[in-house]
Amino acid sequence: MNRDLHSIRRDYQFDDLLEEHAGQDPLTLFDTWLEKAIDACPDDPTAMVLSTLDSKGFPHARVVLLKQRNDAGFSFFTNYDSEKGQQLAQNNQACMTFFWPTLSRQIRVEGTIEKVAQSVSEDYFASRPRGSQLAARTSNQSRVIANREALQQAFDKEEKAFDGRDVPCPENWGGYVLKPTFIEFWQGRPSRLHDRICFTQQDNDWLITRKAP
Ligand SMILES: Cc1cc2nc3c(=O)[nH]c(=O)nc-3n(C[C@H](O)[C@H](O)[C@H](O)COP(=O)(O)O)c2cc1C
Repeated sequence: MNRDLHSIRRDYQFDDLLEEHAGQDPLTLFDTWLEKAIDACPDDPTAMVLSTLDSKGFPHARVVLLKQRNDAGFSFFTNYDSEKGQQLAQNNQACMTFFWPTLSRQIRVEGTIEKVAQSVSEDYFASRPRGSQLAARTSNQSRVIANREALQQAFDKEEKAFDGRDVPCPENWGGYVLKPTFIEFWQGRPSRLHDRICFTQQDNDWLITRKAP
């Protein structure tokens, strides 16, 4: 890479985040920010980086899509046998990081993860486009495969097998929900004097603190 990366920077000044506007409930604030992101960011506003730990404590991170935010927590769907699935089976502590460049905003959500009820996964699976359903059945997510052709052949085979029939949700595919214990809202501000308002769960309440940027 010969480009000068030092000079690539911008000043952040979309908005500020003061305590009086943040309120007492991080979930309400999360919903407000996500609504704004859905309106302002046309590409993947629900995308976030999901970070997990392997059995040696080594971190792994990848993008997944948030599919629900409700009283249970923050949900996404994936293959339970994938690397992330195996890591979560051993250590259910995880972190989700949302970043919306247009809004100069980042949210970090930390907590513990559980599988959602199978009926929830089946309902969501049934709502997905047929191609995505077939791909979920075809792909042994995270496994090494011979080549692209092998993947396509497996897909074609599955397509034939379910011709004219509903595609059932595989047993190893479904949702996870993260129950938050810590949520940080980062609002970019000029001259790198950003706002960071943190909510840490304490008993049944949220302790609110501000961190230096
Ligand atoms: C924009 C975007 C959205 C994605 N959404 C999902 C998702 O919702 N679920 C999923 O399993 N993988 C999703 N992926 C793929 C993951 O980043 C990752 O490659 C895959 O889950 C395998 O990860 P693992 O091997 O660490 O388990 C998405 C990737 C991108 C770039």
